[in-house]
Amino acid sequence: AAGSAAPVSAMSFKAVAASTDDKIVVPEGYRYAVINRWGDPLFTDSPKWKGDATDDAAAQARQMGDNHDGMHYFPINGSSTEGLMVTNHEYINPAYFFPANVRVAGENWNEDWVKKSQRAQGVSVKHIRHDGKDWKTVLDSNYNRSINALDAEMVLTGPAAGHALLKTNADPSGTVVFGTFGNCGNGYTLWDTYLTCEENVTDYFGTEKEGVQSSTLMQRYGVATKASNDSYRWETHDKRFDVAEEPNEWMRHGWIVEIDPFDPESKPRKLTALGHFKHENAAMTLAADKRVVVYMGDDQRSEYIYKFVSDDKFDPANKAANRTLLDKGTLYVARFTDGEQAGDLKGKGEWIALTLDTVGLNGKKLGELFTDQGELLVKTRLAADAVGATPMDRPEWIAVHPHTQEVYVTLTNNSDRGSDKERKGTNGLKHPGIDDANPRAKNPYGQIVRWNESGKDAAASEFDWDVFVLAGNPDVHKEPANLMAGTPNISAQNLFNSPDGLAFDKDGRLWIQTDGNFSDAGNFAGNGNNQMLVAIPETEAGKGEIRRFLVGPSGCEITGITWTPDYKAVFVNVQHPGEYGKHPRAPKVTPQEAPMAFSKWPMDDNEDKEGSGGRPRSATVVVWREDGGVVGA
Ligand code: FEO
Ligand code: CA
Ligand code: CA
Ligand code: CA
Repeated sequence: AAGSAAPVSAMSFKAVAASTDDKIVVPEGYRYAVINRWGDPLFTDSPKWKGDATDDAAAQARQMGDNHDGMHYFPINGSSTEGLMVTNHEYINPAYFFPANVRVAGENWNEDWVKKSQRAQGVSVKHIRHDGKDWKTVLDSNYNRSINALDAEMVLTGPAAGHALLKTNADPSGTVVFGTFGNCGNGYTLWDTYLTCEENVTDYFGTEKEGVQSSTLMQRYGVATKASNDSYRWETHDKRFDVAEEPNEWMRHGWIVEIDPFDPESKPRKLTALGHFKHENAAMTLAADKRVVVYMGDDQRSEYIYKFVSDDKFDPANKAANRTLLDKGTLYVARFTDGEQAGDLKGKGEWIALTLDTVGLNGKKLGELFTDQGELLVKTRLAADAVGATPMDRPEWIAVHPHTQEVYVTLTNNSDRGSDKERKGTNGLKHPGIDDANPRAKNPYGQIVRWNESGKDAAASEFDWDVFVLAGNPDVHKEPANLMAGTPNISAQNLFNSPDGLAFDKDGRLWIQTDGNFSDAGNFAGNGNNQMLVAIPETEAGKGEIRRFLVGPSGCEITGITWTPDYKAVFVNVQHPGEYGKHPRAPKVTPQEAPMAFSKWPMDDNEDKEGSGGRPRSATVVVWREDGGVVGA
């Protein structure tokens, strides 16, 4: 609470070394187990996952989705041994999601493969229980659900619901949408619901038809008028993903969606009041007067940071009344300035309301650009451009310190910073040069920036900010002036790049997850595979200690984090092991063999060795201390 001294957190675990091995590394005295793999059963009648990836769409509908990202453990009656694990499934990797004859030979592509892909993305709800030895799925639980991109009916709520821009041939009401996909980070509310954040939704749309006109809005959001790439291809068999057939469908995605995991019959709600962009995560806190505040990042190069402030107040005694808090309120976008001095990696900031009355940089009210608040929200990025928001180095997760209310954001990297290239669809806005919050051209490493709202009130309109850490490489870069070595809290012992996932535990330890370059070479020598680190923000102003806690297997990112209420178990996701792209350490093998050759994880951790053939699988890892203590302490 404001005014009280922050308790100083501590960490006693021994840092782990960087690793390029195809395995999980945890500190001495810690153990881990693999749970909730792609394809694991969600129901008693789920077909057993086939290691050659020949499961069809009907099987996938009964199985765990792929590419796990944000997640949250909802305890049942406060239990640390029984709860609902809600997990985002962000996308698929065609190289190992499909059998070899599908990913190699395009002629085998058909409607069932599209449906299988759609049913592997979205959100799963899984009732899990610790039986004294292992975490097991309660397969006959009514809570288990696959809320996927194909089958799950949802409602649009808030000011843009029913807007003409959100109407389609299939839904003339503009309020009913099937599915969620591109589910990246997450959040959770003070009333026990889950928030899933739709991120790279535009990649799923395309067309094989010639001559489709693009618009400024489509360019601003990155909607293509050509065929989507091999990771998607949904428009080939589902016309709502064909922008020539359904030009409005893409605008019905790219929202934050609220899910009540405790009501299996409930329809998820797409919350238009929270804005339309490439949502990373959602960090909820309370303003001084108990209105609800949600911090959000738009993850693309040179995009913005937002916050939503509800009109009405949170009432802890009336959970039902809180269910509409995210439908009415004000969306703000952040402007960061260098403050009194440039070059000191700190400054001032302000929140600009995205409402029709706000006057933009050109002296005109936003009401002259948008006919109503619904249109403004569908075109959130254009409104933010008009008021002069600060382009950031790809805003990923945001987290609020549980004791100090200080807010932290990962800015993962930005190859276009300082390039002077025009940003598409912005009517001439360019990728900007460096500033104190984004201080490196072509930023390969990323940074974590933090701010304190004026008066410690999350609803304030101004804030002070500083850089908590610039990731970098002091072994490679000896010239301090270019900042590529990183801040003093980076050393040879904790090298990392592209911070992404971010969350605080109850004691104020900051858990940092990476989705970066794992070549372990050049700029990234000594970084090893993607990893998770723990930081103590308050050790010394601006110089908080950071220690490596976990390293993932080959080709993965580490993302998503949640704890049991006693903080004796931490759950993290290993997303896309084996995804190597044009990676320099990728093996020289045929497309049929490639993914299995680069990573076989978690094959060696599968007790039953159930015939994966070495096919890598996204999965959740639970980590605990052998002595039963609080993880990270
Ligand atoms: Fe899905 Fe920005 O990470
Ligand atoms: Ca400054
Ligand atoms: Ca991410
Ligand atoms: Ca990322």
